This record gives sequence, C-alpha cells and structure tokens, in this order.
Amino acid sequence: MSTGYGFGKVILFGEHFVVHYRPTIASGISKKTVAELKAGTEPGFHITDNRLAAPGYIEKYAECQKKSVELMNSAIWHLDFEKNPVEVTLGGDLYCASGVGASAASCVAMARAVSEHFSLGLSEEQINQCGLEGDKAYAGTPSGIDNTCSTYGELIYFRKKKPGPNQMDRMKLGKPLDILMVSTGITTKTEEAVAGVKKRMGEHPEKYAKIFDQAEELVNQARDVLIAGDLLAIGKLMDRNHELLQKIEVSQEKLDYLVELTRKSGALGAKMTGGGLGGYMVALFADAETQEKTALACEKEGFKVIRARIG
Ligand code: MEV
Repeated sequence: MSTGYGFGKVILFGEHFVVHYRPTIASGISKKTVAELKAGTEPGFHITDNRLAAPGYIEKYAECQKKSVELMNSAIWHLDFEKNPVEVTLGGDLYCASGVGASAASCVAMARAVSEHFSLGLSEEQINQCGLEGDKAYAGTPSGIDNTCSTYGELIYFRKKKPGPNQMDRMKLGKPLDILMVSTGITTKTEEAVAGVKKRMGEHPEKYAKIFDQAEELVNQARDVLIAGDLLAIGKLMDRNHELLQKIEVSQEKLDYLVELTRKSGALGAKMTGGGLGGYMVALFADAETQEKTALACEKEGFKVIRARIG
C-alpha cells in the first residue's frame, strides 16, 4: 500500500486578487487529506472517497475529481491505468468544503501516492505541479496558491507571474496565529466565483483597478505586521480585506453573518477565505480561550469549525 497526503489551506489575505497577479498570503494547515493506493483488479483508476465533507460536496465534485486524475496523468505521470489498475481510498482529517483547499489537497495526496506506488520519484516541485494541473479540473485557471499550500504546508507570500516562475517567499511569523475556520456549509465552484469577478471587472474596469491596487497595498502591509507579530493590526487588515471582497461581490449573507458572529465573540479580525459565495471564513484570536468560546458558539448554531494554529 502506498500513501500520500496533501494539506488543507487558509488564505489569510488576497484571494481572488491573486488570480489577477496581485500578491496573496496563505498557509497550509495541519488538517490533511490522505490517499491510500494499491494495485487494482479492474482496469482503470478507481477512487473510493471517504473524506469528511459538507453535504453534497463529494457528489458535486465527483466529475472534477476524475478529470483531475486525467490532467495529472497526461501532464506528469504518463501511466496506463488500463494495464496497471489502481484503487485509491481518500480519507484524512480535513473536513472538505469549499474554501479550504480540499481539491488541491486531494490532487497532491494522490500524486504522492502514485509517485510512491509506481516509483516515479517525483520531487516536491513536481508534486506541486501535479497539484496545479489537477486543480485546473476544479478551478479552471487556478493561481497556484492552493496547490502550493497543499504541497508545502507552510506560510507563504505568493504572487503569480506571467511568464513564470511564480514568486513564492516562505514567511516566518512574529507570533503564532490562533484561528478558526468556519464553514457556511454551502458548496460553491471556485471557477464560477472567479468568472464572476472577471465579468464585473470587464464591466467596471476603473472601479476594479482601484480595488485591486488597494488589495495589493493591504497584502504588503499584512506581510509586515505578520512578521512583526502585531495581532491587532493583522486583525484590522483581515477586516479590511473582507470589505474589499464584499466590494467585488464574492462574499454572501452567511459568510457576512459568520464574520459578524466571530467578531462579536471577540475575534481580532475576520474575513471570508478562498473562493467565497459560500465555503469557509476565517477569524483570528488573541488567545486560545476566546478561540474556543467562539468555536463552541458556532458549533452550537450547527456550523462545522476547524481550530488551527499557524506558525
Ligand atoms: C481559491 O482558493 C482562491 C482563489 O483566489 C482562486 C485562485 O487563487 O486560484 C479565489
């Protein structure tokens, strides 16, 4: 049996803007998807998906998942699964819902398991490349931030570059971050959220250019205060980042509700995270007690919560 893993991720600053060549700051989280792979009896690449997930998530993405395997195979693995069939079981402790990098995590986990089983000897960079190729099945033209977090599991300042290579600076935090990620339970397609931004950007180019400039400045300020460990300033910038995401219309009612709820409960800052229109939000806390009190308040209302510490 071969195994592989891929980390979940949290985008702290700059989602969506990163698709348009602006910087972002994101991190892997300790929760991961694990792929277990063994030789199969029936021709093909067969997946049993046992991941913990939001209702409807696994079904909604089943076709994308098949496509992700095809994309990784044609770009990097070059294997014949008709002749060398495999059975893959996906599991792990990452609660899969939109916004936590679950699609990239599954691609990276499968790529690692395939590399081990077929002795491909893929480097971390090639595994990351597999993640990017596979994630195209879900996100259309992903920026590359999700697969990078899924592969390396670290905090990074990232900027997509055309032509490449992308900028990827590992960051050291001044202080660890106690965060909560709360799922709205709404499954969304990142591709659709990204397409919506592009459409509105075409309709209001000046307005969007201004917002994108503000987002870039904000992410660069965030880098400084993250390094300095200034939790209050980090929280304020998360709040401002949420406002910018509202302006480009990728937040929605439940996300805004959870942002308010966590702030009222004592979060230093809160924002939606990832593609939006549903999916997850993230809130930052000064201490583990307030984090836990807020987690319980969200759980009491039926929301799924990930407690995480970054750094
Ligand atoms: C998805 O996790 C984040 C987006 O910025 C899309 C991308 O970076 O590819 C919305």
